[in-house]
Amino acid sequence: MNSEIINKTEEYVKNKLQGEGTGHDWWHIHRVRNTALRLGEIEKADLFIVELAALLHDIADHKFHDGDEEIGPATAWNWLENLGVDEAVIRKVCIIIRDVSFKGAGVETTMESIEGKVVQDADRLDALGAIGIARAFAYGGHKVRELYNPEIKPESHTTFEAYKKSTGPTLNHFYEKLFLLKDRMNTMAGKKEAEKRHQFMKGFIDQFLSEWDGNFEL
Ligand code: ADP
Ligand code: NI
Repeated sequence: MNSEIINKTEEYVKNKLQGEGTGHDWWHIHRVRNTALRLGEIEKADLFIVELAALLHDIADHKFHDGDEEIGPATAWNWLENLGVDEAVIRKVCIIIRDVSFKGAGVETTMESIEGKVVQDADRLDALGAIGIARAFAYGGHKVRELYNPEIKPESHTTFEAYKKSTGPTLNHFYEKLFLLKDRMNTMAGKKEAEKRHQFMKGFIDQFLSEWDGNFEL
C-alpha cells in the first residue's frame, strides 16, 4: 500500500517537473529523495513521511507562483487526499513542505520533526557543492540575472518578503544564502557533508573572482 502511494507520487512529480529548467527539475527531487532517505535511516525517522515529503517538497514553489507560500502544501494535500493517504500523514508531510525553504539570512526558520530536518538537510545539500553552483547559475540565467557585478553588494535579508524580491547578480546569492547553509544544518551527517561542499564552493568563488578583471600572471 505504502509502496503504491510512493510509486504513484513519483510518477506524478516526474510528469510535473520533468524538463524544468531552473534547477528544480526531477533530478533535484531524485537526489533530495535519496539523500533524505539516507539521512533518515541514520536518524531513525519515519521513512514513509520522509520519502513523500522529499518527493513533493517542490511540487509548486512560491518562486514560480507570485510568492504564494500556500500553493505547495495545498497542492500536496490535494494529491495525497485523492490517493486516500491517512490524514495524520498528510498533515506531517504538508508541514514539512511549508517549512522547508530558506527565507533569508536574518529570518529564523524552525523545523520541528526529525522527518522535516532530514528533508531540509537533503534539500540544502543539493544547493551546495558542484551541483549547487550549477543550479545557482541555471536559476540566474532563467531570471536573466548578471553572473556578477562588483558594484552591487550582497544583502542580508531580514524578512522573507525582501529575500523573495531580491534581483541581485547570481554571485550575491552565494553570500546571501549558500555560504550560510553549513551553519544551519540539522543533522551531524548533513553538516559534515555541507562543510565539504562549502569548501568546494569557496574555492570556485575565489577562482571566479581572480578571473573577473581578465588579469592573470603571465
Ligand atoms: P529552498 O530549497 O530553500 O527552497 P530554493 O528553492 O530557494 O531553495 O532554491 C533552489 C535552488 O535555486 C538552489 O540551488 C538555489 O541556490 C537556487 N536559487 C534560489 N534563488 C536563487 C537566486 N536568487 N540566485 C541564484 N540561485 C538561486
Ligand atoms: Ni528543493
